[in-house]
Amino acid sequence: MKESENKIYFYPIWIRVWHSLNAIGILILIYTGITMYYSNQGFRLMDFQLAINMHNIAGIMVGLSYLIFTIGNLRTTNHKHYKIKRVGMFEKVKIQSQYYLIGMFKKQRPPYPLSEKRKFNPLQKLIYSIIMYLFMPGLIITGIGLLLPELIIENVYHLSGIFLTAILHASLGFLVTTFLLIHLYVASIGQHPLENFKSILNGYHKTDAH
Ligand code: HEM
Repeated sequence: MKESENKIYFYPIWIRVWHSLNAIGILILIYTGITMYYSNQGFRLMDFQLAINMHNIAGIMVGLSYLIFTIGNLRTTNHKHYKIKRVGMFEKVKIQSQYYLIGMFKKQRPPYPLSEKRKFNPLQKLIYSIIMYLFMPGLIITGIGLLLPELIIENVYHLSGIFLTAILHASLGFLVTTFLLIHLYVASIGQHPLENFKSILNGYHKTDAH
């Protein structure tokens, strides 16, 4: 990670490629997912069959982009930023949450300023790790199951395996959507609301921004 003046090269090209494909794919999945989930005779956001087709294609795209994320993290040191040390973790998350809820509005300085060594603050680290290593694999695996239902166990006790997979898939989709809303809000915190959005496009993070 190169550091120059007050800029750090946080997002190499593979992260930006993964993140762009993932972001576009997830937005399509949310829109088509809502269409499929809530469509009835009185409510239709788009053609139902088109929504299914687009959902399948976007799902495959997100799955493939997740491979870029996994391989990139395995082959570079980026995985270190996702490693959680349990000792003191909750205290640090509490301090960062207090900053977001109170300190930031009192113009206090961030308790964990980002640097070459600390790419994520403790709350980001925890949330990103849960999303990327728990929710996203769960979403992708259940998505593959629904795309290829012959892979799913027929019955779990008296409940259909497809039904249970669909419930899990929709619940994880809802959680990732909630994450995205919070992610967009938190990403807008900094010296300027667009600062971090520029960073994830050009790779360079200005220090002092959350
Ligand atoms: C319109 C959609 C999205 C936008 C505009 C966006 C924006 C950003 C921005 C500005 C950053 C860099 C600053 C920061 O770390 O907060 C970032 C990083 C990140 N985003 Fe997003 N995001 C989007 C969708 C997503 C989705 C859907 C996910 C996961 C499901 C995600 C996961 C991440 C992760 C894990 C990082 C850190 C990557 C790394 O450096 O290893 N983002 N995003």
